[in-house]
Amino acid sequence: MGDIDRPIANPSPIEGKDFKHIDIKQVAVQVQLLVSPTLTPALTPDQDNVEAMAGKKVFTLERPDDRARELAAKLTLEEQISLLAGADFWRTVAIPDEGIPSIKTTDGPNGARGEFFTNGTPAALFPCGISMASTWNLDLLEKIGQHLGEETKARGAHVLLAPTVCMHRSPLGGRNFESYSEDPFLTGKLAASYINGLQSKGISATIKHFLGNEQETERQAYNAVIAERALREIYLKPFEIAVRDSSPWALMSSYNLVNGIHADEYEHTLKNILRGEWGWEGTVISDWTGTYTTAPSIRAGTDIEMPGPTKWRKSDQALAAIEKGELTKEDVEQAAARVLFLVDRTKGLGNMSAEEPEQSNNNPQIRSLILQTAIEGLTLLKNEKSVLPIRGAKKLAMIGPNVKRAIVGGGGSAGLKPYYVTTPWDGVRSRFDGELIFAQGCDSSKWMPLASPYCTTPDGQQGVRLEYYRGDRFKGEPLVVQDKAGTDLWLWDSAPKEVLPEFSFKVKTTLTPTSTGTHTFSFASVGPGRVFINGELFVDNWDWTDEGEAMFSASEDVLKSIYLEEGKPVEILVESTNEVRPASKVSVIGRRHDYGGCRIGYQEEDKVDRQQEAVDAAKAADAAILVVGLDAEWESEGYDRQTMDLPRNGSQDRLIEAVLAANPNTIVVNQSGTPVTMPWANRAPAILQAWYQGMEAGNALADVLFGNQSPSGKLPTTFPQRLEDNPAYHNWPGENLTTIYGEGIYIGYRHYERSKIAPLFPFGHGLTYTTFEYGSPSIDKQVLAEADSITVTVPVTNTGSYPAHEIVQAYVKDIKSTLPRPEKELQAFGKVLLQPGETKDVSLSLNKYSVGYFNTSLGQSGAWVAEEGAFDVLIGSSSADIRCKVSFEVKESFQWIF
Ligand SMILES: *[C@@H]1O[C@H](CO)[C@@H](O)[C@H](O)[C@H]1NC(C)=O
Ligand SMILES: *[C@@H]1O[C@H](CO)[C@@H](O)[C@H](O)[C@H]1NC(C)=O
Ligand SMILES: *[C@@H]1O[C@H](CO)[C@@H](O)[C@H](O)[C@H]1NC(C)=O
Ligand SMILES: *[C@@H]1O[C@H](CO)[C@@H](O)[C@H](O)[C@H]1NC(C)=O
Ligand SMILES: *[C@@H]1O[C@H](CO)[C@@H](O)[C@H](O)[C@H]1NC(C)=O
Repeated sequence: MGDIDRPIANPSPIEGKDFKHIDIKQVAVQVQLLVSPTLTPALTPDQDNVEAMAGKKVFTLERPDDRARELAAKLTLEEQISLLAGADFWRTVAIPDEGIPSIKTTDGPNGARGEFFTNGTPAALFPCGISMASTWNLDLLEKIGQHLGEETKARGAHVLLAPTVCMHRSPLGGRNFESYSEDPFLTGKLAASYINGLQSKGISATIKHFLGNEQETERQAYNAVIAERALREIYLKPFEIAVRDSSPWALMSSYNLVNGIHADEYEHTLKNILRGEWGWEGTVISDWTGTYTTAPSIRAGTDIEMPGPTKWRKSDQALAAIEKGELTKEDVEQAAARVLFLVDRTKGLGNMSAEEPEQSNNNPQIRSLILQTAIEGLTLLKNEKSVLPIRGAKKLAMIGPNVKRAIVGGGGSAGLKPYYVTTPWDGVRSRFDGELIFAQGCDSSKWMPLASPYCTTPDGQQGVRLEYYRGDRFKGEPLVVQDKAGTDLWLWDSAPKEVLPEFSFKVKTTLTPTSTGTHTFSFASVGPGRVFINGELFVDNWDWTDEGEAMFSASEDVLKSIYLEEGKPVEILVESTNEVRPASKVSVIGRRHDYGGCRIGYQEEDKVDRQQEAVDAAKAADAAILVVGLDAEWESEGYDRQTMDLPRNGSQDRLIEAVLAANPNTIVVNQSGTPVTMPWANRAPAILQAWYQGMEAGNALADVLFGNQSPSGKLPTTFPQRLEDNPAYHNWPGENLTTIYGEGIYIGYRHYERSKIAPLFPFGHGLTYTTFEYGSPSIDKQVLAEADSITVTVPVTNTGSYPAHEIVQAYVKDIKSTLPRPEKELQAFGKVLLQPGETKDVSLSLNKYSVGYFNTSLGQSGAWVAEEGAFDVLIGSSSADIRCKVSFEVKESFQWIF
């Protein structure tokens, strides 16, 4: 009997204790299913089977996935196997004769992108994960989930590959922008709200990445070595909270290894904890190309290998594994049943209607929700001399590389083509009547800008012509011809089926310089590639050896300059194929062909002193708004940042220093998804952390700069003074493909507090345009017993003159414990909107989960313990600004599993 037959098995050695909780969750799952819009009559409640529970009438069903299991049992073994991998890049396999439709998945956490990585169907772009997290607003996250449900449907999809709940272990994490926080409680609560909103629309969440994917460097090969206690208290915790509070229908395994085993094969977490201890009944999907074997991965419970067609789960591979006894038929049938359950929960078994074509769904509700989320995520780190909000200025200078760029999202799977974008310049101009001047100051992009704006196709459109040939050598006539607006031509998901699996392609375009000078091209290709200008070989990248970061699996960017004249067009020709490069990789991955593509950048010679221009602009204005930061090129998938400093090569820091010296009323707006070094922080009177804020980025920023709304964001992650201060510093990004999580449970503020290292800005910090006074807190119980919840109430008064939100945070401190514990841990928070002079009570709820630590020596696989003794509840405006406290006690220790 496998795990699917025993969802409420009691794996705990502590007999009886945890049954109660698991039962309650079972009921919750069933009730949630009753309201799912996709259910067909086969699953209506059995009226004979009504039982009383906790004083209420609740329906109990047969197990909700019975229908999926019955159907799975009817299929042939080959049919079952066929369900265990994708049909194509985004879809599951259909078996029409059995009434099994295909369902479609789509990225990602801040919008539903649809089928294509670049130039896809326009979609709503929400603020990135860390920006959402800075709102600390669970209701808002639930609404975002609902709207993303509608967006997912508009892309014809059923499963959204989100949310991302990995921890911010180091400030350099490439995908920190996309995940929420360094704190597992905040992360788990935000994720659960998002998932509840999404799934209320019948769209499946795919909580990710399970587990230990806190870095991008060598993400498919590194081994995250995580001690059991840290695994439980930090890295599994957000998943645990989300399973308890929102029961996600799907989960994505991560690329990396955990404690020596690839995450998709790790039975300890997938089988024993997730499906065993937590009784979770969803479907596990591997990260894209994150399945590494046949039997171990199916056996551990990774149900779907993505993308398809399968590499590891062909019929003969799975049958051979069964033959050898590495896999049982039951393993296969159970995994197939879980795939069918996901299909049933989303599209519905038996629903053979054709997939809806992708559509846009741009509407005023979604725009205002994005604006509100962006405003609430803006985090005011510093505001001396009330530089903000800006009042009475007649002339403003907007300075910096990001003023007129739309820095709206991070890169990788979080990227998409937004309905529209707003820049800081647009936002301020539409809200300011005075004179507005601009200076770029410096350049901050990681790669050369795309050549696209200078390029025309043979038809006179902006862009390039792409000609595909079957085979490696451009033989005969091109089979498919496409025009593309951009010169980021990554063909991973868009190379036409007709030319697969081995193809070559030419890119043709006419480039017209807008100035005379020594201009620079950049070129990177996934396979072999070369560039001709006016018929002459210009860049030869045919046999490249060093991998770069401009696209997944692509070469380093090759830069080369050439003298060109204004208005005099040149013909560009690129030839490339999808052969694997570097050639040495062929033996490692076992394939000669892979995904193809290339990127063409272009920049004209710069003849002005941009920093001097900026200084002149700042001097001439009443106040200067400096917009600096990172962008989707610096923060993305597949790599981590190399330094915490603002790019490039100190140019932004020098610009900031120069502008600060030129105008004392300078507001620094920083757009980035993770902390950056701020050597000038002492001299800047105002610093606003603006993250990546989606489509309404510019408007949200302007609303806050001018005080139309007060900022209310609080940092979900510590900003250290120096990179060297961070807890992962000595173990990042590992050596010899091994990353030891040596800081254990002391991640983020847990580390800075214990080590007494003052951060630049602490976790939970964020100012606004008013001030708040905290009254004396009350607590409704002095003693916490196992089934209790304790409510702490604190009155908060707005003592200033602007309406604003306050986010009240409750940290629990274990006064005396057998094991060492952090100084304090966030266990509750509440957000209130207060008018000037208004007082409201904020209620904070605590329970056994607020005090537990994990004892690895209890029973077979450890258990949570509430240890007898006193606990303080530290209530404050940030982790470092504690305003008051109350205490309670646990009289007698108790334990639990889930
Ligand atoms: C069948 O699937 C389509 C597309 O996912 C959906 O729009 C429709 O509501 C479904 N029908 C039923 C009866 O669930
Ligand atoms: C970095 O900046 C310094 C000046 O601070 C300059 O001397 C150096 O050439 C720059 N390096 C690069 C690679 O641009
Ligand atoms: C800007 O943001 C980045 C990323 O969030 C952060 O690393 C850096 O410290 C910030 N700088 C300032 C001046 O706020
Ligand atoms: C690197 O790790 C592998 C596998 O764990 C091990 O066999 C090898 O000895 C290590 N090499 C070094 C230089 O530490
Ligand atoms: C953990 O459990 C073991 C076994 O019951 C016990 O001996 C030990 O004292 C416990 N440790 C802590 C820190 O609770």
